Amino acid sequence: MAFSTHKLSASIGVEIRRLDIARPLDAATVSNLRRAWQYDGAGVMLLRDQRLDRDQQRAFCALFGTIGGRAGALPTRRPRAFEGPDYNSEDMLVSNIRVDGRPIGVLPDGELWFHHDMCYAAAPNRASFLYALEVPNVGGDTMFCNMYAAYENLPQRLKAAIEGRRVLQAFDEIQDRRLDLHAIPVEDVKHAWQPMVLLHPETRRRALYVNRLMSHRIEGLSEADSDALLEELYDYTEAPGIRYTHQWRPGDLLMWDNLCSIHARTDFPAGERRLMRRVTIAGEPVVAAWNA
Ligand SMILES: [Fe+2]
Repeated sequence: MAFSTHKLSASIGVEIRRLDIARPLDAATVSNLRRAWQYDGAGVMLLRDQRLDRDQQRAFCALFGTIGGRAGALPTRRPRAFEGPDYNSEDMLVSNIRVDGRPIGVLPDGELWFHHDMCYAAAPNRASFLYALEVPNVGGDTMFCNMYAAYENLPQRLKAAIEGRRVLQAFDEIQDRRLDLHAIPVEDVKHAWQPMVLLHPETRRRALYVNRLMSHRIEGLSEADSDALLEELYDYTEAPGIRYTHQWRPGDLLMWDNLCSIHARTDFPAGERRLMRRVTIAGEPVVAAWNA
């Protein structure tokens, strides 16, 4: 099946046009899509104007790997299980829609800082496939940055400072600031020590594996030195030159590889509905660039 590809920005993202992914795809098409996703898009790929029910979204996702599980949340944070024609409680919904005062999805409101999905797990999900059902009229954009380029753009001094080091990744559903690990023991939240630079299993390229929301502490450095170095790195991970900002339309399917990209969400008005359905691909333990 023929399709066309269009760059979404200079550094990251590719759009596939003239392809209906609700229908079965042949092996050659899947292989071409995978190449476009991993190489042309550097891990971020968009398909617009799709009409996908939950089973069609899962079937498309499964062409790229084994469907992944959810990280799980504390019972008090779990959204209300909500059944509807487009979704049920097995799917992860990202939504601010509330029924009886409780959100039907996770990460409901407003801004969300840059992060790699599930970097706080020993074997993070490899990729996320987000499908837009309802979007606000303004805001709620998703921004992506290219982590191959972030690493390559580091001055030699910073590359040397992080070579061979690990970073503590932790998360507890707070969206727009880092957890305060002075106030809450790290054992009480989802966390993992990860290499600061990973080797991507498919492209065999190095990618920077730190982000503003979830990276807390560099191993072997004082807290002050760790904080200062991480702040310096965030200027590279979030540089405008390696960024694509996506303005959603209903029917958009956006898929991203969590090993070579970070993403963030811009704020949006509380009164507007936003409903996205997410399916993931499972991943392996992250491989350090220096262990390859
Ligand atoms: Fe995310």
